[in-house]
Parts: sequence; C-alpha cells; structure tokens
Amino acid sequence: MEIVQDKSQIKRIKTYIENFDEEMQGGIPENHIVLVSGTAGTMKSSLTFNILYNEILHNNKVGLYLTLEQSSESLLNHMVNLDFDLGEIDIYVVDNLKELTQIINNVNKSSEGSLIVVDLAAIRKELKNVEIGKSGDWLNVIKNTIKKLKENINLDLFVLDSLSALYVVSDFKNPRGELFYMFEFFRDLKLTTFLISEMPLTKDRYGEFEIESFLADGVIKLDLVERHRKVSREISIVKMRATRANNDVFTLEFSNGKFKALYGGQPALI
Ligand SMILES: Nc1ncnc2c1ncn2[C@@H]1O[C@H](COP(=O)(O)OP(=O)(O)O)[C@@H](O)[C@H]1O
Ligand SMILES: [Mg+2]
Repeated sequence: MEIVQDKSQIKRIKTYIENFDEEMQGGIPENHIVLVSGTAGTMKSSLTFNILYNEILHNNKVGLYLTLEQSSESLLNHMVNLDFDLGEIDIYVVDNLKELTQIINNVNKSSEGSLIVVDLAAIRKELKNVEIGKSGDWLNVIKNTIKKLKENINLDLFVLDSLSALYVVSDFKNPRGELFYMFEFFRDLKLTTFLISEMPLTKDRYGEFEIESFLADGVIKLDLVERHRKVSREISIVKMRATRANNDVFTLEFSNGKFKALYGGQPALI
C-alpha cells in the first residue's frame, strides 16, 4: 500500500447507505478487504450488491461478483425484486470459462462500467473432469478466475459470496494458515474486496475461524434484532482501518430501492 501525504488523499468507496458514509469519513478506503458479516437474511448480499451496482452506475467501475452460495439467476432475481434496474448497467454472467475471453473483450470495448457475475457452481460442473490445481479445489478456481480477469481488464471491486460457502466446499487442512495466505492473495490483487461471511447463530465471532476479522481491514456487522416480537435490521462498523468511524449501532432500513441508516429511528445527529 502507498503511504499518502495527507488523510484527504485516501480514496474512499461509498456504501451508498444514506446517513452512513458520513459516519466513516465518506466511505471505505480503496483496496481494503472488508468482511461483511451477519446471520442468514441480514441482507449481506443485497447490501454488497448495492455498493457494486452504484459504483458501476455512477463511477464507471468494473466489479466482479463471485457467487457460490446461490446461482446467478437466484442472485439477480433477488436484486430485481429489490428494485435495482439491471438494465442500467452492463452485466455479464459467466457460467462457462470459455466465455471469459469474449467477456473480457466486451468489457474492454465499453467506456462504461461493467458487472461480471461468476457462477462458481456452474463453472465447477464444467470443470468436474478437468485437473485444476492440486486437488481441484475451489479456491484455485477462484484464484485463477480473478487472476485472468485482473490481468486483462481494469478490475476495481471484488465480492466473494460467500467465504462460508467456500469453507463448506473446501477442505482446509490448516484453516488458520491457509486463510492467512488467502488474505495475502486478495491483498496483492489491490482491489476493494468484500468477503461475505455467514455469522454463526451464537454471534460470538464474525467468521468461522475467528481470524477473518483481524486479517480483514474492515468489518461491517449486520443483524436482525427481536424486541417485543418486532424484528428490526441493524448495522454497525466494527472495524475500519485508516478511518475515524462511528461504531454505534444503527437501524438499517431498506425502502424504495435504497438503504438508510437511522439512529433510534432518526438519522444520526452530527
Ligand atoms: N423488496 C424487498 N424489500 C425489502 N427486503 C427484501 C425485499 N426482498 C427481499 N428482502 C429481504 O432480503 C432478505 C435476503 O437478503 P440477502 O441479501 O439475500 O440476505 P443474506 O445475503 O444476508 O442472506 C430476505 O430475507 C428478505 O427479507
Ligand atoms: Mg447472501
């Protein structure tokens, strides 16, 4: 990472959550690795997609969304239901590695941003009988796909949905050591990276192996909280390196296609 002369030079990626970016000096520092952690249904995928979608739409960025947990159809249908106008951005769905070269050409031809959605389950089916890496593991498929894209296009943002699904299908012999090197690999890519993590129901750690939260540069926690049988969504910044962040817990609302952070039902008082 380059050392900046002044804090104003730290470039930041907005979360596009109303009243929330202001609580972290304008957004997430570029090239950070951010863990987005929460139990099932806390809108981890939706919130992360929201960041990618808006960065592509407003800043012509190129984003890669790797989906392991659900198929690309299931993911994109969910986003349509949330009122994201997918017709507004160029989206390429990759479910066959042979298409990658053509997609790279199309992305490079366009002067606008693009979203590349890679459906790892579909690719894995295609590669079933092919030797990929030592034990043909998923992490190698992921690494090779990102490497190929990174070498050929100007990739800015990367989402892995999810780290937890990767654990289910990978056989990490020494998880702490292997995770350390996986984070090194992601860091070397110099991409703003979002790793989605399914929080255990005990809510006692942000990732399965506990070390994810200290290896990451940032941790955003999402929660569903029950009070008198009413359930509300909550969001907080647990950690954000190089950022003066407000660590308070905000209520998270989603309506009319927009996320909003509220303090006890009200926007935060500055
Ligand atoms: N139109 C909508 N407006 C608000 N919330 C929605 C809408 N459609 C789906 N949801 C909520 O989104 C949740 C799932 O979001 P998702 O991002 O897939 O969560 P996660 O990735 O954390 O499991 C659903 O449980 C549902 O409550
Ligand atoms: Mg999800």
